[in-house]
Amino acid sequence: MKTQKSSLEFSHFPVMLSEVIKISSPSKGGVIIDCTFGGGGYSKALLKFSKTKVIGIDRDLSVISIAKKLEKKFNNRFKFFQSKFSQLENIIKEDIDIIIFDLGLSSIQLKDLKRGFSFKSKDTLDMTMGLTNISAQDVVNNLSETQLKLIIKILGEEKEASKIARNIVKARSEKKITKVYELVEIIEKSKKKNFSTKINPSTKTFQALRIFVNKEITELIEGIAAATKLLKPGGKILVVSFHSIEDKIIKYFFTNFSKNKSKPSRYFPEIKNSDSELFERYINKVIKPSIHELEKNNPSRSAKLRYAIRSKNKFIYPDGLMQKFSKYLKLEAINV
Ligand SMILES: C[S@@+](CC[C@H](N)C(=O)[O-])C[C@H]1O[C@@H](n2cnc3c(N)ncnc32)[C@H](O)[C@@H]1O
Repeated sequence: MKTQKSSLEFSHFPVMLSEVIKISSPSKGGVIIDCTFGGGGYSKALLKFSKTKVIGIDRDLSVISIAKKLEKKFNNRFKFFQSKFSQLENIIKEDIDIIIFDLGLSSIQLKDLKRGFSFKSKDTLDMTMGLTNISAQDVVNNLSETQLKLIIKILGEEKEASKIARNIVKARSEKKITKVYELVEIIEKSKKKNFSTKINPSTKTFQALRIFVNKEITELIEGIAAATKLLKPGGKILVVSFHSIEDKIIKYFFTNFSKNKSKPSRYFPEIKNSDSELFERYINKVIKPSIHELEKNNPSRSAKLRYAIRSKNKFIYPDGLMQKFSKYLKLEAINV
């Protein structure tokens, strides 16, 4: 008997699915972790290969109904954990063949206006993905003008951050900001009109707040380090990213912790391979959605897929990664 799909399952289009499946080569079998289960698009496609075992992880409890269905259907081949992927090591105790991250928000989360991720929402300014202890409302009402400016400028890469932060502080001195549309009005009043772009004026500030509330950069850095530790030699780590901060981190990690890492300059002595190289030769190639996919799913236009192959070397914690991106980690550590 065919089971009915819930509306949730129809509402997320898995980005670069065929590319992710091809790189994961599930026909060979093995254990695969889908660190960002979402609508379950990748997990379902991987489970079609009868030799694979899939572990799904998501911080958002709202996907549990989709995950439970899969657990029932695939019994001992699928298991779901509601957790943040930074906690991978506490959940998984076996060596893994493939680990996949498809970062950011799902369209299920974006389209649910009650969650406050969309600037079309009239609801509460929330923006929590799950397992967070602050909301966007706490951030805009409690942080100082300087802290807000830095968050909007650095995490949102918003040029007009100073004015937006100043106007947030001014507005909240009259009345607490609680609704999404109140923040949208403040941002629109603060920004110069730009007729040459179709991008919504609130996009960058919303990105900044969402990243800050969910500590997305800290999660990413801790998550990819933990994943690398769990991978078998020859195992693959795949990451689909959606904005330049994420892609910069992935590219740096794969390039600088690989056997073929480049010299800082041609006058530098040749870098000898050391035991600390976590990945095999990294081909610095980014994979993007095909024109065919873009025609069907416009939100995937900013997606970039990179992957790396684990070397045989013992895992050594990549401290250099934390140091390189400490600016973001310190920012996300601000107490609200
Ligand atoms: C872009 S969606 C993934 C969609 C999925 N690949 C599919 O095909 O349906 C990202 C998902 O990752 C989850 N997520 C984001 N950051 C996370 C983290 N740090 N730990 C666990 N899940 C996370 C979000 O809640 C969201 O459901």
